[in-house]
Amino acid sequence: MSSLVASGKTKELFETDNPNILKVHYTDHTTAGDGERNEVINNKGKMNNEISSLIFSYLKQQGIENHFIEQISDTDQLNKRVNMIPLEIVVRNYAAGHFQKRFALNYLDNLKKPVVEMFWKNDELHDPFINEDDAEALDIINANEIKEIKENALKVNQIMSDLFDKMNLILVDFKLEFGFDKDHQIILADEISPDSCRIITKNTKESLDKDIFRKQTGDIMKGYQIILDKLKQEIIL
Ligand SMILES: Nc1ncnc2c1ncn2[C@@H]1O[C@H](COP(=O)(O)OP(=O)(O)OP(=O)(O)O)[C@@H](O)[C@H]1O
Ligand SMILES: [Mg+2]
Repeated sequence: MSSLVASGKTKELFETDNPNILKVHYTDHTTAGDGERNEVINNKGKMNNEISSLIFSYLKQQGIENHFIEQISDTDQLNKRVNMIPLEIVVRNYAAGHFQKRFALNYLDNLKKPVVEMFWKNDELHDPFINEDDAEALDIINANEIKEIKENALKVNQIMSDLFDKMNLILVDFKLEFGFDKDHQIILADEISPDSCRIITKNTKESLDKDIFRKQTGDIMKGYQIILDKLKQEIIL
């Protein structure tokens, strides 16, 4: 039996024979409101494992270094073990969520340029917004590393926005996490799934992501399945 290294709200990380490789198990837990709501939704782990595997493989193809190695079962994948940087990097193309609220905008208002924001992963403080100076001053990360992460996040945004555009979908915003690999290189880690992205249809602007759960407007698995089916059609590995 491999031992549990860490677990969060949605994934469990296990040791493998190789100290640099983790087995990541995607659970069916679905949370919202800083973990206040936590429900089990059948099949969500499988769906996110497949979606994240496809997106990370595609990003690798497009030259974005990341932790993904291979999908090994419906709910499990192998990832390079990294030393996580405790920041959530959010990229926004249209107003939604925290940003919409902060600036009293309308949902899906246009932005003149993509915005990169950072939130400090700190449960006690409820993941506060943090700027570049704060992150340096608190010794979370240095200026060069922030620059590299920001450039990377914008590249990922371009690649993913183009991909979803071809699928007749719009990437509204998404969250990334990065870490240091064994050679101290910064690589993209964690997951990219409808849990961590806002994705809407081009014609009806219907949400296909976790907003369905947040706003309790329907069956999230229907939206996730549409995204998975379209990704399978679009991505040739
Ligand atoms: N390649 C990796 N190596 C090491 N840790 C990773 C890797 N990819 C993701 N993680 C970490 O795995 C943990 C579990 O993921 P999960 O999404 O369940 O956590 P979370 O609840 O979102 O966040 P946290 O537990 O950090 O508050 C997270 O802390 C995440 O940062
Ligand atoms: Mg998470």
